[in-house]
Amino acid sequence: MDYENILVERPAEGVGLVRLNRPRAFNALTGPLMDELMSALESMDTDDAIGCMVVTGNEKAFAAGADISEMAQATPVDMIDMAFIARWERLRSIHKPVIAAVSGYALGGGCELALACDMIVASETAQFGQPEINLGVIPGAGGTQRLTRTIGKALAMEMALNDRRLTADEAARFGLVNHVAPVAEYLDVAVKLAAEIAARAPLAVRLAKDAVNMALETTLSAGLAYERNHFYALFATEDQKEGMAAFLEKRKPAWQGK
Ligand code: CAA
Repeated sequence: MDYENILVERPAEGVGLVRLNRPRAFNALTGPLMDELMSALESMDTDDAIGCMVVTGNEKAFAAGADISEMAQATPVDMIDMAFIARWERLRSIHKPVIAAVSGYALGGGCELALACDMIVASETAQFGQPEINLGVIPGAGGTQRLTRTIGKALAMEMALNDRRLTADEAARFGLVNHVAPVAEYLDVAVKLAAEIAARAPLAVRLAKDAVNMALETTLSAGLAYERNHFYALFATEDQKEGMAAFLEKRKPAWQGK
């Protein structure tokens, strides 16, 4: 498929990579760019050769937020009609893990896009922020909700109300990012992590992602029941039989994704 705003690659076995590609606008997230990103991820999600995806920008910017020129004159009805935020929901339906590889600016919708992914690998120059308050609005694609659940109320308040930015090291300390690496290496670190996950039992990976995400949605009792059902369901798979047999026979498992 031909894309105008993203580049799609296969940098390692089992890994699909999407690069946001509007460098002159710091990868500001226009509607067409978001549609292309979601289509690319959905197509990788149904591709048996891919087990994990990476979304990245460039060294200077992951993304500087939703495109301000697209919404500057909009009314609320315009925003609803153009599904300005609704299209972001498609990311939640992706079954395979998605890793954000973030360098430079991850602002506004850029920060929210990284937060909506399952893990974040950051370069040392990464900067996370929700500067919407400077525009007279608030985060609209999950910033107030996912940040609060991840880094806690105190810091989320400061970020949403007063444009407090987090450095990569701060983001790691507060549990927002998984790994921080030098600029020259962060993408390789993300791709390596993705390749490792892609080599694991595919159905178990999907259900593990789903169960962890459910922890952000529900009560502990409901979440434990949800987890238990996924655990039991995996005993219907060939990979569970293979994984446990391989352990007992002291050999490496050969996953089938069945
Ligand atoms: N939307 C549209 N264009 C953007 C943009 C954005 N979010 N961010 C940067 N650009 C464009 C600029 O308009 C500029 O375009 P021109 O060259 O055509 O003038 C170009 O990118 C370069 O930007 P700057 O000249 O501002 O470069 P800088 O180095 O001085 O600053 C920056 C870089 C700090 C990223 C700054 O551009 C900036 O603050 N951008 C806006 C960040 C922001 O407010 N994001 C939140 C958007 S709202 C949102 O995301 C809502 C939501 O919750 C979904």
